[in-house]
Amino acid sequence: MKALLLAIVAASTMLVAAQANAADASALAQKSGCLACHSIDKKVLGPAYKEVAAKYKGDKSAEAKLVAKVKAGGSGVWGPMPMPPMSPQVKDADITTIVQWILSL
Ligand code: HEC
Repeated sequence: MKALLLAIVAASTMLVAAQANAADASALAQKSGCLACHSIDKKVLGPAYKEVAAKYKGDKSAEAKLVAKVKAGGSGVWGPMPMPPMSPQVKDADITTIVQWILSL
């Protein structure tokens, strides 16, 4: 019983932490200018982040690929509209945090 209680407490702590991280990451995306061209569930200039998550679901190399793409910019995956290079004005660590969040949507 005690172990079960501990497990529940641990699980809910993790859940709260995960939610806090998601809120941080979306604030970071806002601050970094990503949300000028992206939204979570609607196409703006760039693809909806939920569509990005769906496209790369199960692709273990997606995180590294997308971090590189966001840093350097590029076009042709979702259409002719290019994404400008977001590095160095957005820090590498922040890009990684935002990409991890996108892939978790
Ligand atoms: C000026 C508009 C603009 C800004 C700002 C922007 N993006 Fe994009 N983004 C795009 C466009 C357009 C595409 C589609 C590119 C393509 O088709 O290859 C895209 C694609 C993407 C993709 C999918 C790439 C792929 O190859 O599938 C990710 C992930 C992404 N953006 C994340 C970000 C992040 C994170 C930021 C902020 C650091 C950001 N974007 C800022 C326009 C933008």
